[in-house]
Amino acid sequence: QDKRESLYVLSQWAGKWFRNTLWETEAGRSIGLSYFKERGYREDIIQKFELGYSPDQWTQLIEEAKKAGFQDEYLLDIGLAIQRDDKSLYDRFRGRVIFPIHNLTGRIIGFGGRTLKTEKSTPKYVNSPESEIYHKSDVLYGLNFAKKAVMDADLCYLVEGYADVIAMHQAGVENVVSSSGTSLTTGQIKLISRFTKNVVILYDGDAAGIKASLRGTDMLLEEGLNVKVLLFPDGNDPDSYAKQVGSAAFKAYIEKHQEDFIFYKTRILLKDAQQDPIKRAEVIREVVTSISLIPDEIKVSIFIKQCSTLLDIQERVLLTELNKIRINRA
Ligand code: GTP
Ligand code: MN
Ligand code: MN
Ligand code: MN
Ligand code: MN
Repeated sequence: QDKRESLYVLSQWAGKWFRNTLWETEAGRSIGLSYFKERGYREDIIQKFELGYSPDQWTQLIEEAKKAGFQDEYLLDIGLAIQRDDKSLYDRFRGRVIFPIHNLTGRIIGFGGRTLKTEKSTPKYVNSPESEIYHKSDVLYGLNFAKKAVMDADLCYLVEGYADVIAMHQAGVENVVSSSGTSLTTGQIKLISRFTKNVVILYDGDAAGIKASLRGTDMLLEEGLNVKVLLFPDGNDPDSYAKQVGSAAFKAYIEKHQEDFIFYKTRILLKDAQQDPIKRAEVIREVVTSISLIPDEIKVSIFIKQCSTLLDIQERVLLTELNKIRINRA
C-alpha cells in the first residue's frame, strides 16, 4: 500500500540523515562519534549497525525532511516528530545517538535514541512508537544481522540491550538478538523458533536482569525451546563485560557458564528459600510448574529426575505434583 511504502522511504531517509550527521558534521563527530568511540566501538561496527546522531536542535530534522518532500503527517506517524498542544512539531530524538531498528530484510522501521546526559531525570533511551511499519511485539533488535549466524550455530543468544548486540558482534559473536528491555512476546518467540530451538539468555547481572530472566522464560519453554541462562558477574551486561575482559575471555566465559534454565531457576529460588520448609515447598511447585510447560515428555522426565536430586525430594512426589498442575491447567 502507498502510505506504508512512504513510511518505509521516510525511515530510510531519516536513518541516512542521522548517519550523515554522525560522520559528516562537526557536532556529530565531536559528540556522537566520540561517544561511540569512547564506548570502544570500532568504525566498521558503527557502520554496520548504521549508527547515527541527532543534533541537539528542536526542528532541524523536521525542516530537512520537509525540504526533501515528506509531509508532517508521515513524520508524526512514525514518531520522528512530536506535536505540541499548539500543533507545532519538534524532533523526538534531538541530542541523542541513534540505533536504527531493522526488519528481517534490513529495512529501517524505527529508532532507539540514547541520551548522552548523565542526570537521572532524562530517560536513557527513547524509542520510536508503534506505527504501521513498526510492530514492536514482532521485532527483535539485531535479527537481520544475526539470522544466518543463528542458523549456522543453531543457537540464539538473547540480550537486554542494543549496546549488548553490538558489543557481541564486535567480539565476534553474531548469533545474538535483543528484546530491547521489554519482556518477550509470543510473536518474538515464534520469530526465534523459525531459526533455532536453542536459546541462551544473557541478561544483565543486576536485580532487574535476574527478575527478567525468571519472568519471560516460561513462554520459551511452552514453545518447545531449549533454554539456558547465564548472568554476568558484578552487575555487568554483555557489553560492559566484553569491554572489561576482552573478546577471547568473553567468548570463553559465555561458553563455560551456560546453565539450563530449569536448574538455574531451582538454584536461584532455593538460595532465597534457605531451610524454610514452606518456602521450599513453594520453590518445588514453581520449578515443577516450569517443567510442566515443556512439551517433550522425555525432557520432562529427565528434568524431574535431576530436580529430585537438586531439591532433595523423591521423584514420585514431583511426578504427583506435575500431574496435579497439568490437570488444573486443562
Ligand atoms: P547502555 O547504558 O547504553 O549500555 O544501555 P543498556 O542497554 O545497558 O541499558 P539497560 O540495561 O539499562 O536497559 C536495557 C534496554 O532497555 C536498553 O537497551 C533499552 O532498549 C531499554 N531501556 C533502557 N532504559 C530505557 C528507558 O529509559 N526507556 C525505554 N523506553 N527503554 C529503556
Ligand atoms: Mn502493533
Ligand atoms: Mn540493566
Ligand atoms: Mn544493560
Ligand atoms: Mn549496557
